[in-house]
Amino acid sequence: MSDVNEREIKKLPTLRGKTVVNLFFEDSTRTRISFELAAKRLSADVINFAAKGSSVSKGESLKDTAQTLEAMGADAIVLRHGSSGSAHRLAHSGWVESAVINAGDGSHEHPTQALLDAMTIREALLENPVGSDLSGKRVLIVGDISHSRVARSNLILLKELGASVATCGPATLVPRSLEPAGGIFYSLDRAIDEFDPDVVLMLRIQAERMEASFFPTEREYSRVWGLNIDRMKRLRNDAIVLHPGPMNRGLEIDAASADSTRSRILNQVSNGVSIRMAVLFQLLSGEKEETR
Ligand code: CP
Repeated sequence: MSDVNEREIKKLPTLRGKTVVNLFFEDSTRTRISFELAAKRLSADVINFAAKGSSVSKGESLKDTAQTLEAMGADAIVLRHGSSGSAHRLAHSGWVESAVINAGDGSHEHPTQALLDAMTIREALLENPVGSDLSGKRVLIVGDISHSRVARSNLILLKELGASVATCGPATLVPRSLEPAGGIFYSLDRAIDEFDPDVVLMLRIQAERMEASFFPTEREYSRVWGLNIDRMKRLRNDAIVLHPGPMNRGLEIDAASADSTRSRILNQVSNGVSIRMAVLFQLLSGEKEETR
C-alpha cells in the first residue's frame, strides 16, 4: 500500500462498490482523515459520521446508530468512541454484520496507531545496515500512560514483534499493572541513561480524560518528563522520536525536538494511510474474518 501511495495515480479499484462508514464519537484529525483517504484510495465509498450534529444528541444509542448506518449499506464501520470496549462490543454483540475497526476506544486501545508506529520504526531501522527487525530494539514510551490507548496497543504489538519496551512518566500517570519487560522509569533523564532507547515515543497529556491533578504544574511536567533538545543530544545518534499527535508543543515535547531530523512524526501520519488501506483491504477484499 505504501508503494501505491508513492505513485502519481494513488488509486486501486479493489474495494469498488464497498461502503466504509467513519463513525466518530470523539474528535480526530489524523485517524478520521487517513481512514477516509485510505478507503477512497481503494475506491470504496465513504460516509463520515460525527456524533456532534447527529441524532446521537437526541439520545440515539450506539447500537441504533450502527444498525441505521448498516441499513444504508455499510460494509465496514470504523469506530472511535470514548468508552473502553465499545469497538469490541459492536464487533461481537451481533448488532451488525459489518466489519468493525477500532479507531480508538477510551483509554483502552488504538490498534491501527500501533501498526503505523511499528511500520515507522521498521522504516527507520531499514535506513541502517542491521535491517528492519524490531527484535531487541529498545522503545521508551513517555508520558501519560494511564490514559493512553496508544501506549496499551503499542505495548502489545511491540512485545509481539520482539522489542523491549519501557515506560516513563510521573508515578501518578504510569500504572504498575502494565509491567513492561524493559521496566518503569520515573525520570526521563534516568530512562535515557539507563535504558538507552532506540525509539522514544512521546505521549500527549490527555487533559480531557483527567478528573484530577496528576502533576504539580505544566512547567514542572515539562522540566522532568518533557523531551527537549538537551535530552535529544543525550540520545544515541540513530535514535528516533515518535508522537501520535496531536502534540502539546512546549509541554511533553519542545518545538526543536518535534521538528528535528530525528523526528518521524510526519512519517507516522503518512504511514497511517498505508496501514489503514491494508486493514480495509484485509477486512473487505475477501472472506470476512474475526474483527477487532
Ligand atoms: N493519533 C491520533 O489518534 O490522532 P487523532 O486523534 O487526530 O486521530
